[in-house]
Amino acid sequence: MADPQDPRPDKDAKVPALSRRSFLKGAGGVAAATGVLQGAVQATPQEGRAATLSGTVELELTINGQAKKVTCEPRTTLLSALRDRVEPALTGAKPVCDMGSCGACTVMVDGKPTYSCLTLAVQCKGKEVTTVEGFGTPENMSDVQEAFCAKDGMMCGFCTPGFVVATHACLDRNPDADLDEIKFELSGNLCRCGTYPHVFDAVQAAQAARKAGGQDR
Ligand code: FES
Ligand code: FES
Repeated sequence: MADPQDPRPDKDAKVPALSRRSFLKGAGGVAAATGVLQGAVQATPQEGRAATLSGTVELELTINGQAKKVTCEPRTTLLSALRDRVEPALTGAKPVCDMGSCGACTVMVDGKPTYSCLTLAVQCKGKEVTTVEGFGTPENMSDVQEAFCAKDGMMCGFCTPGFVVATHACLDRNPDADLDEIKFELSGNLCRCGTYPHVFDAVQAAQAARKAGGQDR
């Protein structure tokens, strides 16, 4: 079954990943979320007591290679934690639909593209979270970020961080992806401005640069 937190479609089933709506509609999904939450809150007695007494938990998350202290409620999503609970705030991942259907909030969790609006911060304890800021900076962009700029792969730009993260995942997972496979891999990310041709040009440009011996970061 497709992972509802993973923007990529199920490669074998060839069906889109579940949306947050379908995830939450299912009683099993709610039960699973509750179980995850309880498991996370009960991860240590101290954290469980803290959650009971104050309604918040203290977490240490690894974000872009750095340990970050996060104080949040057990129900806080990773997206909210990144944007509102870490210093400095990481606002690259965007809350566009906030319901698992657009991909603007995509980050990597342990190397896997993940909808951060569908992921609880407490689920990420002990995992490596990489946001779009972790791939490069304006002064030192990743190959994919450079390709998006060179190919004009954005208009309003709200979808772009998610596409950049998803593209890194796509090229890492399938360096030889053809155009159909690229479209399939990125089908969990939506662009309301319709810049898809430029986005796909950017992905193929980054792919070509890697094959020609360019950087891979
Ligand atoms: S999928 Fe998370 S904001 Fe749209
Ligand atoms: S560039 Fe505007 S939503 Fe994609």
